[in-house]
Amino acid sequence: MGFEQRFVNVHDFQKAAHRRLPKIFSDYVDGGAFSETTLRRNRADFDLYALRQRVLTPLADPDLTTRLGNQSVALPFGAGPVGFMGLYRRSGEVHVARASEAAGVPSVLSTFSIDGLETVTREAGAAPDFQLYIDKDPEVTAGYLDQARRAGVKRIFLTVDTAVTSVRERDVRNGFRSTERLTPGLVWQFARRPAWSLDLLRRGFPEVELVRDRPEFGKGALAQASHLSARLEKALTWDLVQRLREDWSGQLIVKGISDPEDAAMARESGADGIVLSNHGGRQLDHGTSTISQVSLVREALGAEKLLYVDSGFRTGSDILKALALGADFVLLGRPFAWAVAAGGEAGVARLFDILRTEMTLTLQLMGVTSIEDLKRRGPEVLIECR
Ligand code: FNR
Repeated sequence: MGFEQRFVNVHDFQKAAHRRLPKIFSDYVDGGAFSETTLRRNRADFDLYALRQRVLTPLADPDLTTRLGNQSVALPFGAGPVGFMGLYRRSGEVHVARASEAAGVPSVLSTFSIDGLETVTREAGAAPDFQLYIDKDPEVTAGYLDQARRAGVKRIFLTVDTAVTSVRERDVRNGFRSTERLTPGLVWQFARRPAWSLDLLRRGFPEVELVRDRPEFGKGALAQASHLSARLEKALTWDLVQRLREDWSGQLIVKGISDPEDAAMARESGADGIVLSNHGGRQLDHGTSTISQVSLVREALGAEKLLYVDSGFRTGSDILKALALGADFVLLGRPFAWAVAAGGEAGVARLFDILRTEMTLTLQLMGVTSIEDLKRRGPEVLIECR
């Protein structure tokens, strides 16, 4: 069966990823915090908005290009930072960066990446955007920034919603972040996923490139996963954002804002924009969905700053709703991890195709001619369903 029949929508990648990945990793990707209420709400709240259908309008292929500040991009969505992509398939980070380059959109590389900035930039032919975590040792953080400068990164995303790591119950049960070595249970899980095991373990158990030479992070990705989160700076405050603003001359986006008051603080901090995000429901449980906050956050942030949004986006219509409500660009997390696990670079290319087709047809049925037209018309293309 060809790719087009195997992968018809985003959920087909999720099913294929489950068949390929050991449970410790598929649960890590899929899971949310505690009772997973925020995770579910992220999806459910897309139903608060319906799309208006308009007929007998001139029909042409809608133009999906859009502006991201002073940059023109081919599509209004792309890959957000997802840690350990290279664990779901060998060279996972490179697959995402290459397919994104080919699709004409920027992608964001996580601090917690198996193939880091140096490798990805070399293999993809251009530096990705970079997501920065602040380590409690300022020297380590300065080292991350130096690598970003050396690679030629133009935009960094400072993640601010993980000063503490929430409890993801699936991870606790599986020992993700508490198991540092292969246990008999893990060996059994890996043995039941031979395709994954052969692909990955051929080059030895992977490590996070950015901290490979730092013994304080331990050896191997499993140990590093526990150390990396435990080492995140807990005393993150707005001063730190301002200091980073002085230190970093490229674009600075603050990722992990979900409250309008924090969006206003971000505007004052000198950041170029924010990602309205609840970390895909992985941090605060019983929080709001992000789609329900787009208008309020846009209002607080002002029209000039970049507004990215993520958490729960799975279809072309989800993306269009956020753009109509005031977002500039949408990031997706898990769908890229599933596509990498399911099909590597070709899988990610297929993910772009699926969402591109969904957006094209939906815009045509709405009688909207382009993404810029949609953004101009704004919420009038939607009907609120309360
Ligand atoms: C993430 N996310 C994330 N964010 C970040 O800033 N740095 C990181 O290293 C990671 N790592 C990570 C791993 C995994 C497995 C997931 C699922 C998510 C959060 C990510 O960037 C994004 O905010 C959410 O994934 C968006 O929600 P969806 O699209 O996954 O629903």
